[in-house]
Amino acid sequence: MPTSTISDLLPGKLFIGADWRDAASGETIDTLNPATGERLTTLAEAGPADVGAAVDAARQAFESKPWATMAAADRGRLLTKLAGLVERDLEKLACLETLDNGKPIFESRYVDLPAIVDIFHYYAGWATKLHGETIPVRGPYLNYTLREPVGVVGAIVPWNFPLLLASWKLGPALAAGNTVVLKPAEQTSLTALALAELTREAGFPPGVINVVTGRGRVTGAALAGHPGVDKIAFTGSTETGKSVMRAGVDTLKRVTLELGGKSPNIVLQDADLENAVKGAYNGIFYGKGEVCAAGSRLFVHRKVHDAFLEKLVERTKKLVPADPMDPKTRLGALVSAEQMRKVLEYVEIGKSEGARLAAGGGRVEVGNGKGYFVAPTVFDGVKNDSRLAREEIFGHVLATLVFDDLEEVVRASNDNPYGLAAAVWTRDIAKAHNLAARLKAGTVWINCYNAYDAAAPFGGVKASGFGRDLGMHALEAYTQTKDVWVNLKD
Ligand code: NAI
Ligand code: MG
Repeated sequence: MPTSTISDLLPGKLFIGADWRDAASGETIDTLNPATGERLTTLAEAGPADVGAAVDAARQAFESKPWATMAAADRGRLLTKLAGLVERDLEKLACLETLDNGKPIFESRYVDLPAIVDIFHYYAGWATKLHGETIPVRGPYLNYTLREPVGVVGAIVPWNFPLLLASWKLGPALAAGNTVVLKPAEQTSLTALALAELTREAGFPPGVINVVTGRGRVTGAALAGHPGVDKIAFTGSTETGKSVMRAGVDTLKRVTLELGGKSPNIVLQDADLENAVKGAYNGIFYGKGEVCAAGSRLFVHRKVHDAFLEKLVERTKKLVPADPMDPKTRLGALVSAEQMRKVLEYVEIGKSEGARLAAGGGRVEVGNGKGYFVAPTVFDGVKNDSRLAREEIFGHVLATLVFDDLEEVVRASNDNPYGLAAAVWTRDIAKAHNLAARLKAGTVWINCYNAYDAAAPFGGVKASGFGRDLGMHALEAYTQTKDVWVNLKD
């Protein structure tokens, strides 16, 4: 897709009540292609008045026909329709995602977009399967529950999987009958705008889905603090998650937070080393390591450490960042100059902490030389109490640590503020399940990494947040229970 057509394809406007409009203030921001540093197009920046209008549109749609009285089956059909339209436009959406985010087109085309189609189909099915129960209470009463939507949902999503994470919120929210104001990340808003147009084409009533673009501290903060929002579904950094939670205190908003991670990827002595090397590699290099669940702390048993690292480094050296739009590319550009600076700063931190740089570590020139490309980086000899091992880098920088026994690796894995995911590589099923139980994380992968499914719940513990996206578990946060008593005494 030539970048010059983006502004023709997508109005750089806000999508409120199914209308495209400029920000009341007329403010705009640029969105860049991280592979070239060049401007792709301009976005409108929603201020408090625009966010207010979007929340009002969502409230109105929530309270009135046709959405408020729509049969669950028809809500499901709308989601099915949306899934079909995303599938129809898969190629265009994949290109937009890659141009905006810098991830390889291979990933957008074969991972993100197909997953989004799956998610809308999965939650389409749930619309008719959410129901209450009858409860055998004492006394002459019929007691039953109604499972109701919570109201207006503010969905705030980050830039690493822009449309995919939006679908994680939209799917369950819409299946349950809520209305949504979606705030994509300012770095990567294009696919959310394209999706907005598809929701209109699918036939969602005006106001059911609204999209407000703009910076976090302007648009995001206005949404997080708006009294008309009943629930905030947030994915992003732990710091921002805390401020979103604080902003919701006065109006007692429901909040779910899917935050950062520093996930341990543990290779036991008896692991299938070839597979474990691939798992370690994918765990940190997939999605440029800009993945909340990235396997960024690699624990390798001392007995296999040297052989393992040699294989991993050999593989890593063959991974060369390249033009994200090239179908052969497997490592793209980091999302922004800011993110690249952060990643390179951690490389320096690693060196100054005395870790050994085993691969990568520097910026790489690709194309016009202005893109945010960094060589895939592996550090060895990292200490678990160092910043390199404790802090989320959110880039393809791996910290490798050694361990001697299981107790030690469980303790070290859990000795971190985060608790999003963990993985274990072993042929011993007892050890695998024991570790799965003992690791403090929302997801544990055994002999695999970065496996996701629309039906499998995902979320964190500790500083990685709370609440679950995906699966039937996500629906809990988008519904509330009403209890009804009926006097049967005649
Ligand atoms: P961020 O957490 O600030 O941004 C995520 C979303 O929140 C964006 O849509 C942003 O516009 C919005 N936002 C920002 N400030 C807000 C506020 N005060 N109120 C409401 N919404 C707000 O992440 P950022 O600054 O883009 O990246 C910084 C670091 O955060 C990364 O280096 C990475 O470590 C971490 N991060 C983690 C993610 C995850 O999935 N766990 C995703 C993105 C970033
Ligand atoms: Mg961009």
